Amino acid sequence: RENGPLSGLRALVTAGPTHEPLDPVRYLANRSSGRQGYAIAQALAALGADVTLVSGPVTLAAPAAIRLVRCETAQEMQAHVMQALPCDVAVCTAAVADWRPETEASQKIKKTADMRAPALTLVPNPDILAQLCGHATARPGLVIGFAAETETVEAHAQAKRLRKGCDWLVANDVSPQTGIMGGEENEVLLITPDGTETWPRMSKQEVAAQLAERVARWWSARPARP
Ligand code: C5P
Repeated sequence: RENGPLSGLRALVTAGPTHEPLDPVRYLANRSSGRQGYAIAQALAALGADVTLVSGPVTLAAPAAIRLVRCETAQEMQAHVMQALPCDVAVCTAAVADWRPETEASQKIKKTADMRAPALTLVPNPDILAQLCGHATARPGLVIGFAAETETVEAHAQAKRLRKGCDWLVANDVSPQTGIMGGEENEVLLITPDGTETWPRMSKQEVAAQLAERVARWWSARPARP
């Protein structure tokens, strides 16, 4: 929408898992479907934002009216995110792999005669959200992180917001019995400097719409640019 409440706002959204290759046919991954991130990108665009969606490997269709940048690994996602700066709002929904195999074998790793399993050495991936929050010259005006937890959700999430340096943090419980990770619905806490809100369980589209409304409120109250 040309004249929606978010027209003029540049948004960057990360979504999906990352795949971290072990060899040409194997990778480490996680259960993220990308649904929440895609829904947020669409909700922001529906309010008029100019949206770049940096997506790990997912099976979702490319949303209309959004710049979609596909990537596979955390390092590729980091590079695309940094290329997409500057922006006004960054929403880091992606379930970026925390670690990757130290080396990617150039050929398929073979079983050996003694059937011993290969040792996997992992090294940490860059933390894209933390890097955005600490960016010296192009920190987005509003940075929203996500926290997927399986226990003590609120305490972990509040600590994470401060540790990462993001403005808002959306926390959810991804314990298997919730059916949230990879599912259609979400139940979140929104943690801001003003406190914690507990949102009822709703569809990922509805979470996205509510969050986009909150971003619109922030955008309309922003201080004038110098
Ligand atoms: O530390 P943790 O992975 O729980 O933090 C989750 C938040 O940080 C999410 O917003 C996720 O998109 C972001 N993140 C990231 N890069 C990483 C790890 C997490 O952007 N390497």
